[in-house]
Amino acid sequence: MQPAKGSVLTRQPSTMSRRAFAAAIAAAAVRVVTDGPGGAPALVPVLAAQAVALKDLVPQRWLIGAALNQNQSDGRDTVAVDLVTRQFNTISPENALKFQSLHPEPGRFTFDAADRYVAFGRDRGMAVIGHTLVWHSQTPRWVWDGPDGALADRATMLARMRTHITTVAGRYAGRIRGWDVVNEALNEDGTLRDSPWRRGIGDDYIARAFEFAHEADPNAELYYNDYNLATRPDKRAGALRIVRDLQQRGIRIDAVGEQGHWRLDTPAPADLDQAITELRGTGLPVMITELDVNLLPPAGAPARGQAPSAESNPYASGLPDDVQQALARYYAEAFRVLLKHRDGIGRVTFWGVSDADSWLNRGRVNHPLLWDRQRRPKAAFDRVVAVLTGK
Ligand code: G3I
Repeated sequence: MQPAKGSVLTRQPSTMSRRAFAAAIAAAAVRVVTDGPGGAPALVPVLAAQAVALKDLVPQRWLIGAALNQNQSDGRDTVAVDLVTRQFNTISPENALKFQSLHPEPGRFTFDAADRYVAFGRDRGMAVIGHTLVWHSQTPRWVWDGPDGALADRATMLARMRTHITTVAGRYAGRIRGWDVVNEALNEDGTLRDSPWRRGIGDDYIARAFEFAHEADPNAELYYNDYNLATRPDKRAGALRIVRDLQQRGIRIDAVGEQGHWRLDTPAPADLDQAITELRGTGLPVMITELDVNLLPPAGAPARGQAPSAESNPYASGLPDDVQQALARYYAEAFRVLLKHRDGIGRVTFWGVSDADSWLNRGRVNHPLLWDRQRRPKAAFDRVVAVLTGK
């Protein structure tokens, strides 16, 4: 729903800066929500979402965005499309640019959905992110297979990696701002994961992937991306080794991505602060690339077709206000830390648009993002806006 033309929510006084105007609107939105009779009607927060845009409030150097699913990048989910267009200046592809989506069989590339994703961002002047070139997951078996069920040899696997990267990053050269070149190469203790890429090629598969990506698009930014870098110091040390190894070899790397799949109790703000400080020691910007806050007990998803148990799915009929507020406080604290490092943060991307879209549901009902299932901004959105506007 659009605010009425010329209403207080759309008219910016000529004496007010854009930032001050956004801040005033944020304050008004929060006040109306709190004062609303009998709880906030849907109308009010939707108007607030239209009037206050995160992309107008973040520090100038930051990109802020969300991962899109295919209903969104194809334009079918029009409510989410409007929200993304209004709020964000960067997008990531939740699945559309993964190996199995683009290159299901040797020599056969399927670019239609990926092309639409890239066009979605380019049409809106957004920074389009590529995710991901080399990963152990969502990669078809043929990529690693050798004769008689053995693993392919180094030369064969390197050739397949190079063909994939050259074709994909080459196709989108000049249109994709940056790539998660290698995703999740680490174990939780900071050693290198025993992925088929590593078993087939050797530890230098990471360096080769970055070299191939740079060859394919010399202007693209190249990222190393992993999870739990803020939570686990040993794993973070592993990421630092990867980055420094590339830097010592003179291979391009532009940022390190902490995915940001967080929980209310971890990382604590002080741990996030420490993690960013250490990662910044490489001289590279840090990106929070897949941000969400999991509110469910770590019980795991129910088996396909099975109903989850009540205790594993406590918020199936809605989020109690105390948890809603705890989520809002957590996001506020996290953004306070990010702002403290404002010059060292390159991008913050949420992994999904609204709670309805999140991978964290997986058969249960989770509430990890800033917009609820009706695409209304939550208390967490208001608190993030407040932090970004200096409150
Ligand atoms: O495409 C099929 C569809 O044809 C089928 O009908 C449907 C039935 O379940 O499955 C569809 O595939 C699913 C795919 O998402 C697209 O929706 C897969 O089963 C499902 O496993 C896959 O999950 C994705 C997951 O990566 C796979 O590892 C999530 O959407 C995606 O959010 C998630 O993203 C990862 C990042 O890439 C890396 N970091 C962690 C993050 C969260 O796991």
